[in-house]
Formats: sequence, C-alpha cells, structure tokens
Amino acid sequence: MAIHTTKRWKKIKTTVMVLLLVIIAFGALVGWYKFFREEPQPDWITSDPDMRFKYGSIGAEHDAGIPYWIWYVLPRMFSDKLPGPGGYAALGVNWEQGQEMPIGFTKKVIGFPRVANTCAACHATSYRSKPNEPPTFVVTGPNHTLDLEAFFRFLVDCAKDHRFNPDNIMGEIRLVADLSWIDRLIYRFILIPITKKRLLEREEQFSWIYRDDFPEWGRGRDDAMNLTKYFMIESPMDDTYGPTDMPSIWNLKKYKPEQGHFMNLAGDSHNARSVIIDSALGLLGAAPHDKEEFLGHIDWLEDYLGNYPPPKYPFPIQDDKVTSGLKVFNQACADCHDSERTGTRMPIGEIGTDPDRIATWNKNAAIKANQVVTDMGIERKGLVEETLNGYVVSFLDGLWLRAPYLHNGSVPSLRDLLKPVDQRPTKFYRGYDVYDQHGVGFVSSGPEAARKGSPYDVTERGSSNKGHEFGTMLSAEEKDVLVEYLKTL
Ligand code: HEC
Ligand code: HEC
Repeated sequence: MAIHTTKRWKKIKTTVMVLLLVIIAFGALVGWYKFFREEPQPDWITSDPDMRFKYGSIGAEHDAGIPYWIWYVLPRMFSDKLPGPGGYAALGVNWEQGQEMPIGFTKKVIGFPRVANTCAACHATSYRSKPNEPPTFVVTGPNHTLDLEAFFRFLVDCAKDHRFNPDNIMGEIRLVADLSWIDRLIYRFILIPITKKRLLEREEQFSWIYRDDFPEWGRGRDDAMNLTKYFMIESPMDDTYGPTDMPSIWNLKKYKPEQGHFMNLAGDSHNARSVIIDSALGLLGAAPHDKEEFLGHIDWLEDYLGNYPPPKYPFPIQDDKVTSGLKVFNQACADCHDSERTGTRMPIGEIGTDPDRIATWNKNAAIKANQVVTDMGIERKGLVEETLNGYVVSFLDGLWLRAPYLHNGSVPSLRDLLKPVDQRPTKFYRGYDVYDQHGVGFVSSGPEAARKGSPYDVTERGSSNKGHEFGTMLSAEEKDVLVEYLKTL
C-alpha cells in the first residue's frame, strides 16, 4: 500500500513537473513571440534603395522604438502639444501620399510593431513650384520643413501629461485597432508604462531644449552637436547653443579625406563613414543589438549616399546667361568653391559668419565620443580630436535645394546672399516649401510663408546673417548671370 502511494505520488510529481515545464516553455515562447520575434520589413521597402532609405530600419527599433499604437494615438490625444492641426504633419515631416508612415519613420515588428527613425527624417526634403500643387520629395536633401525641436518636446510633453495613462491610451487605441486580449494586456501593463518611463528618462538629456534663454531652432534646423554631447557622451548641460540647417547628404564621394577634406559644418569629422556611423548610433540611442547587421546598414548607406546624384534644377534656366555666369563664378567664387580649399576648414576670422555653432563641440567631447564608439568594438576614423575654429568651405552641388543658405540657414535665397549684410533680410519665414525661382530659395515672406513656416530673426542667438560678403560688390548684371549659373550646379 505504502509503496503504491509513493509510486502514485512520483507519477503525479512527474506530471506536474512536465506540465510546469510545458507552461514555462509556452510562456517563454509567447514572451519571445510577443517581445523579441523579429519580422523582416516588407519587400517593397528592402528591395528598392530609395524606399529603403526612406522607410528601412537601421536597427533603431530595439532601444529607441515606440510601440506603434502608442505612436499612432499620441497626436490625436495630445493635439494641443503640436504646433498646429494635422497630427504629425504639423511638425513638417515629409509624408508621401498613400504611405502609412512619414518619410524617415520606420515600422518594424520586434515582438510587436515599433516605430523608430532613420536618416531620412532629417535628410529628405520637398518642394513645390506653386501652392496647391503636391510636393516633390527629394531623398538625401535637407529637410527644411521639419520642426525637430517641437517633435522632441512633443514626445516628452506627452509622457509628462497625466492623460498619458493606460486607461486613456487604451481607450484611444480601441477606437482604431482591434487588438487581441493578450495584446491589450501587454499594452496596458507593460508597453504603456515602460514607454512613459523611457520618454521621461529623456527629459534631463533634453533639458536644453526647454531653456527660455535659448530661441526656438525653427523649422529645418537642428542643434546636432549638442544632441550628440548630451545623448552620446552624456555631458552636463553647458551654455552653448548652435542650431544649423540640415545639410544635404547626396554625392558624399566628393569628400576626399586624403585631400584634407573634413565633414560636418565645422569640419568636426574625418570622413563619411565616421559621420554615418555616429549618426546611426545617435538614432539607435544605444550600442547596436547586432554589430554585424549594423555594419551591414553602414556599408549600404556609405555606398548609397556616396553615389546618390545631386538633384538637377527642375525649373527653366536661361542658358544664354550661364556661360557668362560661369565667368563671374570663376573670378569671384571658384578660389574657394572650386579649388583645393573646397571641403577644407576656413577660419572664422576669415569667413565671419555666426560663430555659435563652433562652440557647441570641442576637443574633449570628440575624445569622449570616439571612446564610446571604440568601446562598442566599432572601428572608424571618427571625430577630429582638436579645437576647431571655422567652417568648411561648402561644396555647391545641388545648391538650389539647399536654401536657406549658410550653415545656420540665415539667408533665404542666393540673391540675398549676394547682397551686403545690411541689405539681407532680417526677419523672414523658414519651412514653407513653395519655390522662389527668381530669388533661388524658398518663398520666405507673405501670408502663406507665415502660416506654414517659422519666424527667423537674425538678431537672435546663433542666427546672425553676417559674413560671407563675397560677390556683394558685383554689378546687378553680373549677379544676375551668376545666379543663373548657380542653378546649374
Ligand atoms: C535629427 C536629424 C538628423 C538625423 C536623423 C540624421 N542627421 Fe545627419 N546631420 C544632421 C545635421 C543637423 C547635420 C549637420 C551637423 C553639424 O555639422 O552641425 C548632419 C550632418 C550629416 C552629415 C555630414 C554632411 C557634410 O556634408 O558634412 C552626414 C554625412 C550625415 N549627417 C549623414 C546622416 C546619416 C547617414 C544619418 C542616418 C544614419 C543621419 N545623418 C541622421 C541631422 C540629422
Ligand atoms: C574665401 C572663400 C570663399 C569665397 C571667395 C566664396 N565663398 Fe561661399 N562659402 C565659403 C565658406 C567658408 C562657406 C561656409 C560658411 C558658413 O556656412 O558659415 C561658404 C558658403 C557658401 C554658400 C552656402 C552653402 C549652403 O549650403 O548653405 C553659398 C551659397 C556660397 N558660399 C556661395 C558663394 C558664391 C556664389 C561665391 C562667389 C560670389 C562665394 N560663395 C565665394 C567660402 C567662400
């Protein structure tokens, strides 16, 4: 009898153990499936280079991703925190007709659908020849409409709001999606609280964008080196402030480090590969999840951006003026813009443009950032470990689409740049995408520019339109033919 009972007990114990193991295994499987299972993005994204640049993941969804449904409902719930009506479009993101995501926003399933960003959020642009016309999008061009600062603030401000709670967010999600019970539980008890916590954690690193003594960056501008300083190397906040124009990143092969060329506006970085790696790490917000896969994205970007051609001027050009325009260019501009000086640093004393951007970065920061990347086991030439004091002499390819001009975007059009400083516009609007074919730049005044754009005041910090007075003494006729030539670059 006793033997019998023991045997029975053993049997029950074994059954329970097996059951438990099955439950644990099942739990682990569900856990893996719901949180870590990676689904490749669809073919239409991965097999077309331009689509890949616009919507393809570079791995940022792991640490910087936001759960898709939270991302989806935020602009509806917190429209009061956006600069205007229209959801994310109010931030000036580029949104192609019929696409689920704006350009530069990726959707990828890692357990659950997540949204993150790619280079194209800042490095893709749009223009229109007239109002009421759909925009033409140009990848690798500088996003001149994006209010990046408002975007950063939006996410943090949503998380800070008491309305950011599971009840409210689930209520909004229920209106647009029919989630399974398990997904509802996951959102309510895990994803919503974690997302809130993660966004709030960013607040301290973002504290400089809340400072009252700093002006708004405005559309199309980014205080990029400060972002790197506060996020990548987690420096304490200092008093520097230097938002710049988003640059174009087509045709990167023109940079020849062996000829003394440097990249980034003050020549802060040695070569394209270094900038691409550092920018991608910025988007990941952490060490890559899979280093080999990450370096695969870097190789692809280096090749894609290296060879991407600058866009041709899409409007009529008066051919008869171009040849004489080239002569004026050769005499007034080529010494710097088509010579061994192009792509090299020019001291601030000589160029005389706004100095604030230079102060946002320094030798120490470069040493630390290089160390962070080396510690991840990633090799690159990296950031220049020197004190820098000037701006790189710009290559002028695709110049027409790079307005407003100068590193801080302080001069609306090419015709304005050819005026002496005291005749350049002092107040104008940035971020309206209708093109001004006469001035060569974007329309920067008038009611529509005021409605769509953000105001720019050259007397504000970091925003001076001083310096670069080359060509300002040319005759009206010389300027006219020069502008015609510049359209062909
Ligand atoms: C949040 C906006 C933003 C994102 C996202 C971004 N960049 Fe940039 N990028 C900038 C800004 C602003 C600069 C200019 C920084 C400076 O020098 O002050 C820049 C500079 C560059 C340059 C140097 C251009 C030159 O001519 O010197 C390259 C190359 C570049 N980015 C590539 C990339 C790549 C590749 C990615 C994605 C992996 C990326 N960027 C993501 C804003 C962005
Ligand atoms: C002595 C050297 C020098 C000469 C001469 C010169 N430039 Fe420049 N140029 C620069 C430097 C340096 C910059 C970058 C300055 C900055 O962004 O602060 C620049 C920037 C520019 C930009 C802004 C590019 C952009 O993407 O915003 C334009 C446009 C430009 N130059 C046009 C011209 C034209 C046209 C001439 C001839 C009339 C000319 N430059 C003559 C050195 C020069």
